Amino acid sequence: MIRLKDVVKTYENGTDALRGVSFSIEDGEFAFLVGPSGSGKSTIIKLLTGEVVPTSGRVIVNGFSMSRIDEWQIPYMRRTIGVIFQDFRLIPGKTVYDNLALAMYAVDASRREIQRRIPYVLELVGLDGKAQRYPGELSGGEQQRVAIARALVNNPSTIVADEPTGNLDPGRSLEIMTLLERINALGTTVVVVTHEKGLVNHFDKRVIMIEDGLVVGDGVGSYEVKE
Ligand SMILES: Nc1ncnc2c1ncn2[C@@H]1O[C@H](COP(=O)(O)OP(=O)(O)O)[C@@H](O)[C@H]1O
Ligand SMILES: [Mg+2]
Repeated sequence: MIRLKDVVKTYENGTDALRGVSFSIEDGEFAFLVGPSGSGKSTIIKLLTGEVVPTSGRVIVNGFSMSRIDEWQIPYMRRTIGVIFQDFRLIPGKTVYDNLALAMYAVDASRREIQRRIPYVLELVGLDGKAQRYPGELSGGEQQRVAIARALVNNPSTIVADEPTGNLDPGRSLEIMTLLERINALGTTVVVVTHEKGLVNHFDKRVIMIEDGLVVGDGVGSYEVKE
């Protein structure tokens, strides 16, 4: 469960990125987070992953209070949340298999768990047979599938994606969004930041609209952006 209550984030240089944001996302939900560039979407994602801390207000992610989390709890919190970025962030010198294995070693998974889990997630994202490829030998859409597999490999309850289709053509974007929808249908909570209106309107999902650091809309279905 994700809960933001009256969240204000003012960066060190004085920028008011969030000016009092409240919303909740229940376990198993799929929500789009939309809004113009600079409206505060990435700041919200970074609050959820613990990369930034709120200036005031409460952020609760899967039972962890991000405003008062102890240092030692952070690895446990991070295990509950998988993150996907626009630029994939794969390690170019490692194979697909090793990119995923590294994410599992980082949380002390056993060799046996790793050998069992990686083929499962690669099949889930439609990349069986590509385990020994290097990222540079894959298309953009395939690289993003690897990143999604990596986000899923430690079986998090929540996936957050910040503009996951920003580097992909429309066909590949739709495939990636459909994959995220399928992952959600298997029980994972999914939060996707995007400003691609056509893509959002293709899916009949909850849309939380952010503008200038505030929630300006929250409902299911299509939306109109102010350009
Ligand atoms: N590390 C930072 N330091 C200072 N200002 C920042 C930082 N990160 C983002 N901002 C500012 O905060 C506002 C919201 O940014 P961001 O959350 O990245 O928006 P979005 O993802 O919707 O484009 C913008 O004005 C941006 O310039
Ligand atoms: Mg952003």
